[in-house]
Amino acid sequence: MRAIVIRTPGGPEALELVDLPTPEPGPGEVRIAVAAAAVNPVDISVRDGIFHQLGFITQPEHVGLGWDVAGTIAAVGADVPFRVGDRVAAMVGGVDRSFGPYAEELVLPATEVASLPDGLDLVEAATVPLNTLTATQALDLLGDAEGRTLLVTGAAGAVGGYAVQLAAERGWQVTGLARPSDEAFVRERGAAFASEIDGSFDAVLDPASLVEPAIAAVRDGGVYIGVLPAMKPTTDRDVTIDAVQVQVDAATLAGLLARTAAGELPARVHSTLPLDQAADAHRLLSKGGVRGRIVLVP
Ligand SMILES: NC(=O)c1ccc[n+]([C@@H]2O[C@H](COP(=O)([O-])OP(=O)(O)OC[C@H]3O[C@@H](n4cnc5c(N)ncnc54)[C@H](OP(=O)(O)O)[C@@H]3O)[C@@H](O)[C@H]2O)c1
Repeated sequence: MRAIVIRTPGGPEALELVDLPTPEPGPGEVRIAVAAAAVNPVDISVRDGIFHQLGFITQPEHVGLGWDVAGTIAAVGADVPFRVGDRVAAMVGGVDRSFGPYAEELVLPATEVASLPDGLDLVEAATVPLNTLTATQALDLLGDAEGRTLLVTGAAGAVGGYAVQLAAERGWQVTGLARPSDEAFVRERGAAFASEIDGSFDAVLDPASLVEPAIAAVRDGGVYIGVLPAMKPTTDRDVTIDAVQVQVDAATLAGLLARTAAGELPARVHSTLPLDQAADAHRLLSKGGVRGRIVLVP
């Protein structure tokens, strides 16, 4: 099977298309014939070598790319609740691995895989796992809303867009910080809109990683949640600092996929590209201004 891997970190040209043996599922595992794999900012960080420098990646041969996959079950090991042909999606966690969704085939533990609801397109499904789960788990860190105020930076991005809507549903008074051209999107998600940080908030969730000005916008006694756990900032002020580190959660993902299929959460596809054009996808995402995910199709 074909897969995109990196042997030596670097620019987009570090992404190599290689032929690998088709992986076989063991007990409790399934093999997914990948139909769609979203391209996320973390993939660019893996490719750049940031996680190698931090000592988080120690793969001897090559590193697999991608976190989001949607596809069809192609083979099953013993004792799994899936059958060949089932449509599924999953988040593949962690960065220190030789395999990933940028591939034609992928083996995962069945417990990490969610069934797709009827009517949800595979490309759309591939945009859901990482960023809905991150938004959900970031909000879990904040506890009950009780009408408190929350600023979400990067509110038109993948994490921020979901966070704004899910926070408003939980009862937060949400302000979404985004580019002026994103105002309608943010307001449609149930939030007030800001193009610059203004005011003081009970909590700030910072997917745009503005850090210092975002922490400054937290009231005394409030909470700041970042998205880069390896680079958690500090402050002398009375502000709780934390960072989300997304965890695989197939049960919650199944619910988020159902909400996407029902039209309650947006499925945001920017464009699709063939798997062998992964480098172009990385170049496009790096330019900024991309709304919705670029999705690789093997
Ligand atoms: N810790 C975890 O578990 C976890 C999980 C998922 C993601 N993440 C991280 O979360 C971050 C966000 O991911 P994402 O997928 O949501 O990225 P994204 O889709 O690119 O969204 C980021 C958004 O922030 C906007 N932005 C940046 N600076 C801004 C500013 N000064 N004012 C207004 N808007 C600004 C960007 O706008 P432009 O495009 O116009 O610049 C973009 O809309 C990434 O660093 C990612 O690696 C962490």
